[in-house]
Amino acid sequence: MREAVRRADQAVAVEHNRRAWDRLATAAVPLAQPAVDEAFGDPRGWLGTAGSAGRPWLPERLAGLEVLCLAAGGGKHAPLYAAAGARVTVLDVSPAMLALDREVARERKIDVEIVEGSMDDLTMFGAGRFDLVVHPVSTCYLPDVALVFREVARVTRPGGLYLSQHKAPASLQATLAANDRGRYEIEHPLRPGGPLPPVPPARLRESGTLEYVHTIEALVGGICRAGFVIADVMEPDHVRPGAVPGSAGHRVAFLAPYLRVLARRMPATASARAVVLVESAG
Ligand SMILES: C[S@@+](CC[C@H](N)C(=O)[O-])C[C@H]1O[C@@H](n2cnc3c(N)ncnc32)[C@H](O)[C@@H]1O
Repeated sequence: MREAVRRADQAVAVEHNRRAWDRLATAAVPLAQPAVDEAFGDPRGWLGTAGSAGRPWLPERLAGLEVLCLAAGGGKHAPLYAAAGARVTVLDVSPAMLALDREVARERKIDVEIVEGSMDDLTMFGAGRFDLVVHPVSTCYLPDVALVFREVARVTRPGGLYLSQHKAPASLQATLAANDRGRYEIEHPLRPGGPLPPVPPARLRESGTLEYVHTIEALVGGICRAGFVIADVMEPDHVRPGAVPGSAGHRVAFLAPYLRVLARRMPATASARAVVLVESAG
């Protein structure tokens, strides 16, 4: 019964957010802006290292790698990875976000495989197909992220990389506006038991979507339990000195908005051994 409820909640979120993201794409919000012209002058340079200074996360050479851009529609990630030489598949739930990828790929004469679907069901891809899965912020749009990580683990080849970014739980729990002392308050519990209440348009929340808080345990622990080892973790720094209280630039000085995780897929045997170790320890 619990499993059936879990699946039903997941299906409601998928359908609601598909429609919400179609609207956001039509409204051309910043997250639905295709990559700019300059980026295609040096796509590899534009993608950067994804890691911190001195700790590059992305392989220097992307040419020839099988890359899955997961929940990454919008005409940015997939066309740039493809322009940098990777063989790219982009999966997204929103046809309007994918239409942007299709348009950019056509304009730039770039090959990108475009797949409409939900990130918790990757059954259209064979096991171990991808060398690299790039997953921009989107786990907040599903109540159950364990299903996503399980699928990502299945389609990532042993030794392959999974680079994901997530909305940090404390940031989702806190007020968007500053109080009269210029501070932010924890407004929602860590496990609210459903989606967050709706918000007006804001930099750190997407209005009209259903968003869910996930604990660090569900995110980082969930990635490990799916069969990855964590290679590094970052909280990207978005602080803007001198930002006015209540602005996104001010809030990020108090609350890291995102958690970025680099994980490596364990070989199947190591993964099975780790599960046995965990089970015998429990
Ligand atoms: C923050 S955007 C990421 C890509 C964006 N272009 C960027 O620049 O970062 C989040 C994406 O997640 C997608 N999404 C939401 N729920 C999804 C689901 N269940 N499965 C796949 N994609 C989903 C949305 O359609 C949207 O394109």
